[in-house]
Amino acid sequence: MRASAARLLEGRSAPSEVPKLKVLPGHAICPQGAEIDAEPGKSICDTLLEHHIDIEHACEKQAACTTCHVILRQGYDSLEPAEEKEEDMLDKAWGLEATSRLSCQADKGGGAKRRGV
Ligand code: FES
Repeated sequence: MRASAARLLEGRSAPSEVPKLKVLPGHAICPQGAEIDAEPGKSICDTLLEHHIDIEHACEKQAACTTCHVILRQGYDSLEPAEEKEEDMLDKAWGLEATSRLSCQADKGGGAKRRGV
């Protein structure tokens, strides 16, 4: 399995605001960076893809690879905790950090139902 490049995300929002995802500039998939609304119930991966940020998702969002690995610089605690299957895959991720997540399993908008787990 090919190791993914970690993408850097920053999440921020006040409780009454629409949650935002900020993709920090510098990575090939989004060199200029971006700030997009995070729809509740939608994974970070799906949100990025819908905004034409072509994050890899080799296992089709089944928590069976690490190509959708992201590192959150802010907002990590606003996500539902990772489930065991995600944690097991994250252990195999290149560049793992304490705030790493599989973007296909993590929901920045809040209230996610996990997909494919
Ligand atoms: S796309 Fe494979 S774990 Fe997310």
